[in-house]
Amino acid sequence: MPNKKDLVYLFANWKMYLDYDESNILANAIANETSNFSKKIKMAVFPGALALYPVVQVLNDVGIESGAQNIYWVDKGGYTGEISAQMYKGAGCKYALVGHSERRHIFNETNHDVRQKIEAVLVADLTPVLCVGETSDEREKNKTEEVVEIQIRAAFQNIVWPENRELVVAYEPVWAIGTGKACDPIEAQKMHALIKKLLSVLVPGANPVLLYGGSVRPENVGEYLDKPNIDGALVGGASTKLDSWMGIINRVK
Ligand code: PGA
Repeated sequence: MPNKKDLVYLFANWKMYLDYDESNILANAIANETSNFSKKIKMAVFPGALALYPVVQVLNDVGIESGAQNIYWVDKGGYTGEISAQMYKGAGCKYALVGHSERRHIFNETNHDVRQKIEAVLVADLTPVLCVGETSDEREKNKTEEVVEIQIRAAFQNIVWPENRELVVAYEPVWAIGTGKACDPIEAQKMHALIKKLLSVLVPGANPVLLYGGSVRPENVGEYLDKPNIDGALVGGASTKLDSWMGIINRVK
C-alpha cells in the first residue's frame, strides 16, 4: 500500500449490525490480530451501546479506542432511552460520532441538534467525530459544497475548542453510505480540501483529522488513503466482518 502518511485513521462504525455476542466475538478476533497491524494505524470501534462496555475492555488492552455512535446532549435526567456523553465517557469511550447521516436522515437530527451534541461531547471530555455529507438530490442540484459548508458552520458555531483536543470530521456522502457506490477519490479529496480550509477559519489551530466514509472496502481504501487531506476512513458494513476489516487494515503498510 503506497500511502506515505505517519498516521492512518481506521474507524469502524458497527451501527446496529452486530448483537452482543457478535460484537464480543469480533472485538476479541480483532484484538488477537493487533500484533500484525501497521504501527501507523490509529483504530477506533463504535459498537452498539449494549455491547460497548465489554468491547471497550477487550480493545483498550490492545490500544484500540472506542466510541459512541450517538449521544444525547443533557448529562442526566428524565430522558427515557437516551444515553449521555458523560455516560459514554464513564464506560471508557474516547470518541463520539455526531451527526451521522443515518441520524440526520432517519431520525431527523438537525444542524442545531448536532451543534448541541458537539458541545456536550466536548464538555464530557470526548472527541467528536462530526459526520457531514450531501444527499444524491443535493448533489444533482450542485449543492454539495453548500450543504457541507452549512453543516460544518452550524456544528462549530461559537465553539471554543479545548486545547489539545482532537478534531475529527468525516466526509460521508449520503448516497455512498451502504450502497456500494463509493465517491470518486478525487472528488472526495476536493471536498476534504474545502473542509480543511473551512475548519482553519472556524476552529483555528485545531489541526483537524479528515476521514472519508461511504462504501469503503479493501479494494478501494488505498485510493482514498493515497490522497492528501484524507487521513483515514470511517467504515460501516465492511468493518463488521473480520475478513473485510482485516482486508482494509492490511492495506496500510
Ligand atoms: P458504509 O457506511 O461503509 O457501510 O458505507 C459508512 C458509514 O456509515 O459510516
